[in-house]
Amino acid sequence: MSAEMPFKFMSDTRRQIGDFEMIDLIDEDRIDSMRETLHVDAPSHIQWNHWEYGSEVEELRNLYEKGKSNQWNSSTDLDWDMPVSKDEWFGNMEMSLMANLLKMMGKSEAEQKAAMFDEVAYVCSQLLHGEQAALQLCGQLTALCPTTDEKLYAANQVADEARHVEIFSRFVGEKMGTIYPITPVLKVLLDELLTVEGYQMKTLGMQTLFEGMAVGIMDGLRSNAKHPLFIDMVRRAEQDESRHAAFGVLTMRRVVREASPEEMAHMEDWAFGVLEALNASQNIDMLRLFGPKYGFDADQVSQMILAMPEWKDFNSEIYMHTVVPNLLRLGLITDRTRDRWMERGMLVEGKVAGRATPVSA
Ligand SMILES: [Fe+2]
Ligand SMILES: [Fe+2]
Repeated sequence: MSAEMPFKFMSDTRRQIGDFEMIDLIDEDRIDSMRETLHVDAPSHIQWNHWEYGSEVEELRNLYEKGKSNQWNSSTDLDWDMPVSKDEWFGNMEMSLMANLLKMMGKSEAEQKAAMFDEVAYVCSQLLHGEQAALQLCGQLTALCPTTDEKLYAANQVADEARHVEIFSRFVGEKMGTIYPITPVLKVLLDELLTVEGYQMKTLGMQTLFEGMAVGIMDGLRSNAKHPLFIDMVRRAEQDESRHAAFGVLTMRRVVREASPEEMAHMEDWAFGVLEALNASQNIDMLRLFGPKYGFDADQVSQMILAMPEWKDFNSEIYMHTVVPNLLRLGLITDRTRDRWMERGMLVEGKVAGRATPVSA
């Protein structure tokens, strides 16, 4: 399979675990230097509109209107006085891989609770870093998109993403206590999105792939959480994200209509490459970080999870939630590439129906 993959990110960090090719970077110096690369040379272009300020793409103008009327103030609309305690269950067991693992290992309830708390803080830290990338990328889209409707919409999304940076940093930093650093693979992929050329690829990368993933992840967190402030916060962010995913689908529909077969194949391969890399790290960074604290071996746990007969079924959940149905509808997963998605546990046949983003969202 590897030979036919034109976009293989972090190929020198991969190792085989059974049938699965995992991205696993353990060189601490290299990880540090990736994280410390704060200046990224992204090509910067400005596209004026045609001095036409009327609406050209009505569906986007409607989405912009919806974005304006659905603004909210994260400082005053959320009850920040509510305390968050490590001693209470943050959510139910479905929320946490590590809590389930510790339960299986016969560890105490207190440890399971603590592991769930750490996992939520870790996952939300990664969401936060993604929000920072979305904030920067929407700024790029405001400048790059050719029509007024797209520019106004993207500018409005910049405000949404600013709010998301604010809420996640406040919740994780102040309420949970620790913002964990970005995983190497996420840094590589977000840099890829920020440096790739053209609003079409950026829209595919951020608005379709990452927003689609964010909707799935946030939905899982919110529906399993018990903390009222967290539930309210994520519910509000999720509403914004589904509007962003709708922009992705609406814009990509027009991009796809105008694309040549070569451009389609390029987008299809790139989209797979990006999400394949995200999938290929399989929580290994989190497991390595918390393994010593909770007394498990990250490698052993990874091997055990990948060997489970139902692995593809549960691994695919997050992809099948929104992003894969959207890509299928856009024609960016075809018979040429479908098997790759299935092999990597990101697509399971028969699960797809009706989950694509409703574009009237
Ligand atoms: Fe966001
Ligand atoms: Fe977003």
